[in-house]
Amino acid sequence: MKKVLVTGGAGFIGSHVVDRFLESNYEVAAADNLVTGNIENISGKNIKFFNIDIRDSVKLEELFSAEKPDYVIHLAAQVSVSSSVEDTVYDAEENIMSLINILELCKKYNTEKIVFSSTAAVYGIPEEVPSKESNKTAPLSPYGLSKLTGEEYIKMYSGLFGVNYVILRYANVYGPRQSAHGEAGVVSIFNDKIKADGDIFIEGDGLQTRDFVFVKDVSKANFICATENIKNETFNVSTNTDISILELFNTMKKYSEYTKDAVHKEARKGDIRNSRLDNTKLLDSTSWKPEYTLDQGLKEYLAK
Ligand SMILES: NC(=O)c1ccc[n+]([C@@H]2O[C@H](COP(=O)([O-])OP(=O)(O)OC[C@H]3O[C@@H](n4cnc5c(N)ncnc54)[C@H](O)[C@@H]3O)[C@@H](O)[C@H]2O)c1
Repeated sequence: MKKVLVTGGAGFIGSHVVDRFLESNYEVAAADNLVTGNIENISGKNIKFFNIDIRDSVKLEELFSAEKPDYVIHLAAQVSVSSSVEDTVYDAEENIMSLINILELCKKYNTEKIVFSSTAAVYGIPEEVPSKESNKTAPLSPYGLSKLTGEEYIKMYSGLFGVNYVILRYANVYGPRQSAHGEAGVVSIFNDKIKADGDIFIEGDGLQTRDFVFVKDVSKANFICATENIKNETFNVSTNTDISILELFNTMKKYSEYTKDAVHKEARKGDIRNSRLDNTKLLDSTSWKPEYTLDQGLKEYLAK
């Protein structure tokens, strides 16, 4: 049976990726230093857990030499846009240096494929909506730049050393286990307020749109891109839909007991008005297709 290493495996998306591989009876190892992850996301699961910081190349090599993973699903990262502005050095250490550690070991231990979690933030202000993989990249934050730099390192390791990869650029991911603390997604922030019957704030008119994708569709994309015969490609992972924040709020209200109206506050400066990713390339190249509409995803999420 093949073996997979999930970095960031105790995190929101990572723990769903762990579940997806376990479902198909893979041997799973997870590496996480729990800086934003939660051990409860993976406790009781039949995996090997390594509580290590992947910036530590010595500890990481111990893991690789013991486990020799066939696939590496690399999700561990500094994930906050605002933190990347406040501490750009930490963001680069997390998102660039630790990735290079991983790539060195993929090269040394002949890993079959690395699947890398990138982001819509690499596009910056979209050249067109929906954004295609071939569109211009012009990140507006150190986070977007560190992810884009990671993509380029991966392609270089592929060209120089034959490390096979798939790069996945996610739209706005939501679902169970997403933390509402720190730089959380809007869905988890609204969910927290719904549970506490607190006020829900919408920035600006609420007509700004995002492309929401359910976490199980994202974990499935990771599984398929690791295990299917596809390599050295970059894909958007999205539902390719425009959902306004107001529409999101109303749908969440529909599936919960929440009765209050949203409170509008000043729009965030520099906020991108419309963000949507074209998922045609992933649909055409693999067996992946999103199974969850926003309604279905929110219904499942809010029922928990
Ligand atoms: N959530 C989204 O909407 C979204 C969108 C685009 C891209 N992504 C990317 O998906 C990946 C997973 O994000 P998430 O939303 O699940 O966030 P998350 O914070 O839940 O997951 C990140 C995990 O990495 C771990 N980690 C961070 N630094 C580490 C280090 N140095 N060593 C070991 N472990 C470390 C954290 O403890 C955490 O468990 C990230 O690479 C993120 O950039 C997420």
